[in-house]
Amino acid sequence: MKLFWILAMMGYTLLGADGYGIYQKHCMQCHVEMMEKQEVMKHLGSLKAPPMVEVSNRLKENVLIADDDNDVKRQVIVAFIKDYIQNPSVQYSMCHPMAIEKFGIMPSLKGKLSDDERQAVAEWIYDRYNKVVFK
Ligand code: HEC
Repeated sequence: MKLFWILAMMGYTLLGADGYGIYQKHCMQCHVEMMEKQEVMKHLGSLKAPPMVEVSNRLKENVLIADDDNDVKRQVIVAFIKDYIQNPSVQYSMCHPMAIEKFGIMPSLKGKLSDDERQAVAEWIYDRYNKVVFK
């Protein structure tokens, strides 16, 4: 039994950080994973931030890559999210102005996540909502 856990831990470190787990630990208390637009409007009072499905879709809509190369697009968005976790600011936010007015700017999580963890959670945000539209 012990050996199982040792092997499981080794697998974990070899595979890198688990994006969904990091989301649950550090982001979920503010960003719900899935919610439809209509529900967001209904629950605006109790939400602390835009749902992650909205964040992911909005970034994909706003970041346009000249030659439509999806790998490049993914890298740019992942880099943006990685940076935003540490340096959120009005200047860089691509959120809807109304959302910023309602929620304020995200607090910086500087020092709370390692570089690998920021990478993993950023990739998760991009990939989780592949073909999942915010509507
Ligand atoms: C204490 C609440 C809170 C936590 C925790 C939080 N966020 Fe946010 N986040 C916000 C708010 C509020 C906004 C909307 C305003 C803004 O853009 O700063 C936001 C916006 C964002 C955006 C959108 C930026 C843009 O310009 O489109 C990203 C990406 C993001 N958060 C990622 C994360 C990730 C990843 C985590 C966890 C590692 C996380 N957030 C944890 C409150 C939070």
